[in-house]
Amino acid sequence: MTEATNDIEKKVENMTTKNLEEDVVNPWEVASSSDKGVDYDKLIKRFGSSKVDEELIKRIETVTGKPAHHFLKRGVFFSQRDMHQILNLAEQKKPFFLYTGRGPSSEAMHLGHLIPFIFTKWLQEAFDVPLVIQLTDDEKFLWKDLTLEEASRLSFENAKDIIALGFDVEKTFIFSDLEYIAQSPAFYKNMLRTQKLVTYNQVKGIFGFDDSTCIGKISFPSIQAAPSFSSSFPQIFNNKTNIPCLIPCAIDQDPYFRMTRDVAPRLGYIKPALMHSTFFPALQGAQTKMSASDANSSIFLTDTDKQIKTKVTTVNKYAFSGGGTTTEEHKEKGGNCDVDVSYQYLTFFLEDDNRLEEIRKTYTSGELLTGYLKKELIEILQKIIGEHRQRRSQLTDDIVKQFMTPRKLKFDY
Ligand code: TYM
Repeated sequence: MTEATNDIEKKVENMTTKNLEEDVVNPWEVASSSDKGVDYDKLIKRFGSSKVDEELIKRIETVTGKPAHHFLKRGVFFSQRDMHQILNLAEQKKPFFLYTGRGPSSEAMHLGHLIPFIFTKWLQEAFDVPLVIQLTDDEKFLWKDLTLEEASRLSFENAKDIIALGFDVEKTFIFSDLEYIAQSPAFYKNMLRTQKLVTYNQVKGIFGFDDSTCIGKISFPSIQAAPSFSSSFPQIFNNKTNIPCLIPCAIDQDPYFRMTRDVAPRLGYIKPALMHSTFFPALQGAQTKMSASDANSSIFLTDTDKQIKTKVTTVNKYAFSGGGTTTEEHKEKGGNCDVDVSYQYLTFFLEDDNRLEEIRKTYTSGELLTGYLKKELIEILQKIIGEHRQRRSQLTDDIVKQFMTPRKLKFDY
């Protein structure tokens, strides 16, 4: 057994012995003692957000004139704040913009990171609105063992992963905090306005900071808040301070935006709306999320076909495959899709609803064996990552620089 495997097993054992009464969900840790993963209905209540229900999904279809993305139909984007207000604006042909981000802590992004970006792209195309993408290299400098130079370099590399998803350069501004903040007094002013309104006591409560937390971390949330306000991008919004914002992200980022929504009205700004996704599980199971800081839990966008195959096939080594331990047992008792990582991955990446349902039924009955389920997943992931690798390899530094240059986009205000 490898050292890394040991670490994960220890982590899971700790979770179980800790017998978590509540799931832990914050920007740095996601942990649940249930092998089905986080209880998202409970989380909605705890965080005070609203469910993405059938009515909202229908309204999104009506307003955009497009069938709902499978992330909506399958409950991947399950929670929201103020989404009806965004739809009211869209109905009245009034402007809003999208904001999302990435903390560049690793050379490449992993499959979990794709979830908010794939959905953001769908939203951008469905509503035809500007998009700003924040790369928080400053955050990763503060939290990880990275030099500023290395954090900058990772921003640039991660920007390539994002651009390779097919974003439109005329409608999208990607920025590294280390570069953009130094060039933008408007952004810095919004950071300061937020810093003046939020006390140490409040961030301690929201983020769990303590007396030994460095002051860079304590003030960082104001940096992640600033892009929610249109006035942070005068070149895009023609100095307008009141263009509303919609933030797609996984729900681990919500603490930042609870804080932002609290300060917004006191600054005379509009609260950002949000759409939250569930977590793409770690290879070892849904008790935690796929995370770049645990390379063993992740399939990266730079992984080769062989690496993908090895990673998916070794899933079975861990306790969280829903298949039987032997073929006989599997055929007799059937598989458990609720905890099976390969099946969970298919719910994110297999778009064909009929095929997914067929797999669910035949796996549950025991007719479909784990090996076949994995084979199908491996093929799908190899295709997605292979095509991504191909598009990424065609990106020149010049194209990345175009996305990252502060400029007016294709929208007039
Ligand atoms: P980061 O780099 O941790 O994650 C980038 C985005 O991916 C989401 N995410 C996941 N989604 C599904 N399954 C997973 N396993 C998974 N892991 C990560 C995150 O929620 C995020 O949406 N501080 C942020 C960067 C940031 C940002 C933002 C994110 C700055 N501004 C605005 C969202 C919106 C961070 O470190 O993200």
